Amino acid sequence: MASFNVSFQVLAGVFTFLALCSLLGRRRHILPLPPGPRGLPLIGNMWDIARSQDLSWIRYWKWAQVYGDIFQLRILGHRTIVLNSREAMTTLLEKRSYNYSDRPDMHMFLDKQLVGTEWGFFTFRHNDWWRLHRRTVHQRFQPRVMPEYYNIQRTAAESLMGKLAASPANFFDHINNYAGSILLKITYGYTLQEKDDPYMCLVLGAMEGIDKSGSHGFFWVDYFPFLKYVPAWFPGGGFKIKAREWKEANSRLKNEPWNWVKRAIEEGSAEPSFCIRLIERSSITPGDNSVMEDVIKNCAANAFVAGAETTAATLCCFILAMSLHPELQIRAQTEIDSVVGPLGGTLDFSDRDKLPFVNALIAETLRWHPVAPLGVAHRALIDDEYAGYFIPAGTTIIANAWTALHDEKLYGPDPTAFNPYRFMMGGREGPPNPELFAFGFGRRICPGRYLAMNSIYLAVSRLIATFTIARPLDDAGNEITPEIAFADGVVRYTKLPPHGRVHKKN
Ligand code: HEM
Ligand SMILES: *[C@@H]1O[C@H](CO)[C@@H](O)[C@H](O)[C@H]1NC(C)=O
Repeated sequence: MASFNVSFQVLAGVFTFLALCSLLGRRRHILPLPPGPRGLPLIGNMWDIARSQDLSWIRYWKWAQVYGDIFQLRILGHRTIVLNSREAMTTLLEKRSYNYSDRPDMHMFLDKQLVGTEWGFFTFRHNDWWRLHRRTVHQRFQPRVMPEYYNIQRTAAESLMGKLAASPANFFDHINNYAGSILLKITYGYTLQEKDDPYMCLVLGAMEGIDKSGSHGFFWVDYFPFLKYVPAWFPGGGFKIKAREWKEANSRLKNEPWNWVKRAIEEGSAEPSFCIRLIERSSITPGDNSVMEDVIKNCAANAFVAGAETTAATLCCFILAMSLHPELQIRAQTEIDSVVGPLGGTLDFSDRDKLPFVNALIAETLRWHPVAPLGVAHRALIDDEYAGYFIPAGTTIIANAWTALHDEKLYGPDPTAFNPYRFMMGGREGPPNPELFAFGFGRRICPGRYLAMNSIYLAVSRLIATFTIARPLDDAGNEITPEIAFADGVVRYTKLPPHGRVHKKN
């Protein structure tokens, strides 16, 4: 009885304290929270989200038409604010970047008891550990380093063209290998094997787990971290089995290519790479378990994973667009012919400025279906306000790049149509470069964007110059119109090949 009394008093104390806090808290901010779909008690907007047939970014785009530039969602007590206009994104994520560069807690993805992707620095909190990784990647992926990679990209593009000519039906694999081989060579100095490369298999094996556990809120444990103590055999504990599988795939991804580099160094056969440069610069020895060894390994794994699929998905989207719009490809071919004549297959980085229409096709590809339309979630570090609304510290902030990229005020009418002429208007006030939204914001902006754009440009321009992209055929040999469908995940691939048919230009 006595113990009951004590805990009752404690409880009463806690309640009074909480009530006081919320009163004081309320006094501090008189501004309202942003509007949003009303939701149900406790579960909040979970039902609104579950019952919607749309892909997440389309659903948010529709809600933006109802609730405006900035709206909020509540899921099991967790608050998310979605930004929908250029103004909101640049004001909060760029101008106030320091206070919006944190990330929400990703329990499934990061907790050691779960997937424990300790190398996944795109999900790190905004702290010194993140800063150290960010600086390390930036050193080797900033603009002035890019020319060092031109030859790697040229070789990969030649190989891509050769494989497309030999087996055009497998273009999906060829494109994945193009993006993967560039990153493997740059980060580890490793040359991709022609068939069933073991390291490409590692990424493909790890990607499912990264896509699912890397999307905040895909698993209950993201909302209720204590669930991580549920044993795997317990009803609903299936996520623990998945977690164990993915953890294994992640750790192989971090260690195996690195061990390959270590062996290459010992054998004296190591080629210049991200890893070698940083090993030299920080004077470490691979295998010494130093902090810097860990950081370099993490960054290398990150670059490989963050760069390969995104680049490949963008190129697949381009092929889909071309198969739907043969007239645009003809126009681009005419441009290329007028600049370099029939030698289009040797187009190079230095030709880029001479090809406004090709550049417009690339820009429109990024705008039409950005491969990461919701980017990676940020988190507000402090209480803040914007446009008359209160933004509490700790809120998850999602910038819906899709809405900005489909804003008629920025890109003109009919935003869902693939129309590169939007970027050919000339004049002073052309539409903003879609890269401003497609690669994220502020201190968290994608550090690999320069490399990615170069890889995309080289593949696109040589592909147009050398091949004709047509519609896929059905079993009877008739052309079919490919479906414009995308899979939900961190990276949004066009839903499955074939989106088009590639054949050598005659
Ligand atoms: C078309 C290709 C690519 C797209 C569309 C893309 C897009 C993005 C986006 C939207 C973010 C989140 C930014 C934010 O939080 O606001 C990001 C982060 C990141 N990207 Fe990329 N990316 C691409 C290619 C690459 C490449 C080639 C690399 C290789 C170095 C890379 C490395 C990273 C890393 C390490 C982060 C995490 C940054 C951080 O959290 O500080 N990405 N990317
Ligand atoms: C971040 O928040 C602090 C504290 O409110 C403020 O003084 C500072 O100006 C903010 N920084 C940015 C870049 O908005």
